[in-house]
Amino acid sequence: MKLNINAISWADCFAAEQTGVDAAILFAWEDTPPCECFAGLRDAPELKDFKGKASELALVYYRDPEKIGLERILLVGLGDPAKFSLTVLRMAAANAMRRARELKLKRTGLVLDQMLCTLQKGGISQFDETALAREGAISAAHALYKYDRFKTVSQEEAGEMETYSIIYKQPTRRELAECTAEFVQKVSSGVCLTKNLCNGPSNVITPAAMEAAAADVAARHGFKISVLREQEIREKGMGAYAAVFNGSALGGRLIILEWAPEGAENEAPLVFIGKGLTFDSGGISIKPAAGMHEMKSDMAGAAAVLGMCEALAGLRCPRRIIAMLACAENMPDGAAMRPGDIVTSLSGKTVEIQNTDAEGRLVLSDTLTYAEQTYKPRLIVDIATLTGACRVALGGEVAGMFCTDETLQEFALKAGQLNGDRVWPLPLWDEFFDNMKSITADMSNAGSREGGAINAALFLRQFISREQTWMHLDIAGPAYNEKGNALREPGATAFGLRLLLDIAMNWK
Ligand code: BES
Ligand code: MN
Ligand code: ZN
Repeated sequence: MKLNINAISWADCFAAEQTGVDAAILFAWEDTPPCECFAGLRDAPELKDFKGKASELALVYYRDPEKIGLERILLVGLGDPAKFSLTVLRMAAANAMRRARELKLKRTGLVLDQMLCTLQKGGISQFDETALAREGAISAAHALYKYDRFKTVSQEEAGEMETYSIIYKQPTRRELAECTAEFVQKVSSGVCLTKNLCNGPSNVITPAAMEAAAADVAARHGFKISVLREQEIREKGMGAYAAVFNGSALGGRLIILEWAPEGAENEAPLVFIGKGLTFDSGGISIKPAAGMHEMKSDMAGAAAVLGMCEALAGLRCPRRIIAMLACAENMPDGAAMRPGDIVTSLSGKTVEIQNTDAEGRLVLSDTLTYAEQTYKPRLIVDIATLTGACRVALGGEVAGMFCTDETLQEFALKAGQLNGDRVWPLPLWDEFFDNMKSITADMSNAGSREGGAINAALFLRQFISREQTWMHLDIAGPAYNEKGNALREPGATAFGLRLLLDIAMNWK
């Protein structure tokens, strides 16, 4: 998707040649005529049957009585103000954009003042204008994403949307429109990167391809990049990590990006770690065939971390950030780890592999220890498609959150509610570690099925010190969804990118 996102004034919409737009998106509440700031719109015959129900659309051929240019208004309903949520706004904007694409329009705009004015008239006061502008605007951009790299026949003859403008009518709204356009541009470029990696097949998106993608982000934005390959991972003593890639022909890569803006080079960094299993067959404890193809997305955590890097660099994040992509592939061959094997982790603790399908925690445990030892971080966040149990517990839209710091937990709960990456707290109670006993090693990598997501979190906790501020996000539920909706195509969701970005930019 090569979409140019900008901010333009209402007058510019009518400059048909250069900056003009083919259609402008406007909003309306149910059973309420649209905002009177558009002369003549209310009387348009196309609105005769428009009720304004949530995501209902009306295409109005529009002429400002005093101007020529802008030909179409896409009016979209917001439903009943009493039932408003950011999801309603996101869906409405996304549906309007999808309609514009169906119409093969090249240049679409969203009228920011009209959206905010409508929301205000509906009595929506619990969100600030920046948040409303961002969510409305970015949702329309997300709706355009498609993964068609391997479709040999183009799905659409007329080609893609070219420009998406955030339109302001009042000069006082110019700054907000510009900030919003910039935010949408930078964040959606991260989101596209994350989704492309996550939707990509495992024969293409290998650990080496993850490295190439990271190197590209690093080169474009000025990150330092370093990569630990198989031999270094082994030599450093990361025996848990090495056990995972032993059975794969592709090896493993621990990819590390460092963002150190001027003045922040020596501050204690925020470290973000993503699970990057480019394919998880389960290994010798092999998974059932049904649904196994979805395990191409078992690197969703690493992809979200890399997408966050793309976005935070674009937004010139002022703090020191370390991103670690723990990449490997979990396959069963003659060199693969076996159930019953014992490995020694970087921390010195030994682990009995009772289930080779509990591989995510193996790569993460050594990466966590390495992160704490190497960087003395202010905070470590890891994000991983870690357990089917978390998906069972919280469903397909919400991530499990495990956190040692209450203020950070509160921050993430609130941030997720605004940006759509919703998380819900689960406990880090030590009793759960009793489920991970081994009679031969310090611990087993797999515990009881009951409380599986919590067991996994407690396992990870053994590999960092108690003083370390740490958050673990289990995104096995929301990372990948073969049921799509107006806002997202079936497949990768880029879940977590916005939440990580909020933490990177705004936490303390
Ligand atoms: N990658 C899976 C978890 C997963 C399952 C993610 C479904 C997304 C959708 C992970 O490596 C795994 O296999 N976990 C096992 C752990 C068990 C063996 C202790 C699981 O959840 O079954
Ligand atoms: Mn697994
Ligand atoms: Zn996995």
